[in-house]
Amino acid sequence: MLDIPHAPLTDRLREGMDRTEARLRACVTEATDPFVVTTAGHLIEAGGKRLRPLLVLLGAEFGDPVGDHLVDAATIAELVHVASLHHDDVMDRATTRRGRPTANACYGNAVAVFSGDWLMAKAARIAAELGDTSVRLHTETIERLVEGQLRELIGPGPDDDRLAYYLEVIAGKSAALISAALRLGALEAGAGTELVERVGEYGEQLGIAFQIGDDLIDVTSAQSDSGKQRGQDIASGVVSLPVLLALEDTSPANAELRDLLTAGPVPGTPEHTRAVDLLCASDAIPSARKVLDERLARARRVLTTLPDDHAVRALDSLCDYVSRRTN
Ligand code: FPP
Ligand code: MG
Ligand code: MG
Repeated sequence: MLDIPHAPLTDRLREGMDRTEARLRACVTEATDPFVVTTAGHLIEAGGKRLRPLLVLLGAEFGDPVGDHLVDAATIAELVHVASLHHDDVMDRATTRRGRPTANACYGNAVAVFSGDWLMAKAARIAAELGDTSVRLHTETIERLVEGQLRELIGPGPDDDRLAYYLEVIAGKSAALISAALRLGALEAGAGTELVERVGEYGEQLGIAFQIGDDLIDVTSAQSDSGKQRGQDIASGVVSLPVLLALEDTSPANAELRDLLTAGPVPGTPEHTRAVDLLCASDAIPSARKVLDERLARARRVLTTLPDDHAVRALDSLCDYVSRRTN
């Protein structure tokens, strides 16, 4: 579980997180087939930061933050996240996540996708128990996730601004769920519309910064730290922000990297290692970091409009975490 720097979790938040963890693990045992229990539980068992449930509970701090329905809401957010990772690892042909072989590596693509679907269905069922508003937010979020992922797959057209397109992709595939987690918590806690919108806007900016951080980790963090293969984006042809910026740098000093990225190096080859090393040392890294920092500044600006208490300090501290994280 994530520990936020400078803002230790209150007893209430810690208890909420512990109960969410138990609920999450119990969910998968409800499958009728023992094989589904194993495959749907594969990534959940591997642990993780549980950022999205924490955001649900922090969002709830803007209303009345007590009740089992908040644990349900926090569970939904992680179920959707894990389901999307089952699908993502198939699309990215990833073999390692959270320091373990991915579900697709263990059980094949079809099982990984269907167990992701099972988790998604479980999340929908819990959302239905919460009520119409949560179902609407849940389904809108999945629409944004899928559209973001589809747009990443399709790629920009010749007339599209590539940076704007990239930002739209990550707003869908990543920020949508992070923003929705905060909004769901605030909504379920009965916060007013204006507060719900503001925490959602904070989440949107944090989510964009978080995904840029993910793109940077792909290049700059060792597998032993990130739990994922280094250079996965280059290997699967995903145009992450560092890749995008490196492709746009037409200076002669950047020619070798551009050529390697354009050729699409195969993982495990010297060309792939060279591309990752060159990208890591390139100007694309500090340039991507600038875009990330700018989004964090926007997130922090939203926080200045929220009532200053423990939750706002925790959300502010999460910006520090997103700026520094290496896994
Ligand atoms: C990780 O991104 C993946 C996401 C942020 C979400 C992907 C969303 C989908 C696959 C849609 C899911 C839809 C349904 C119906 C389940 P990444 O590949 O950039 O990061 P990584 O390094 O963690 O793999
Ligand atoms: Mg992906
Ligand atoms: Mg991926």
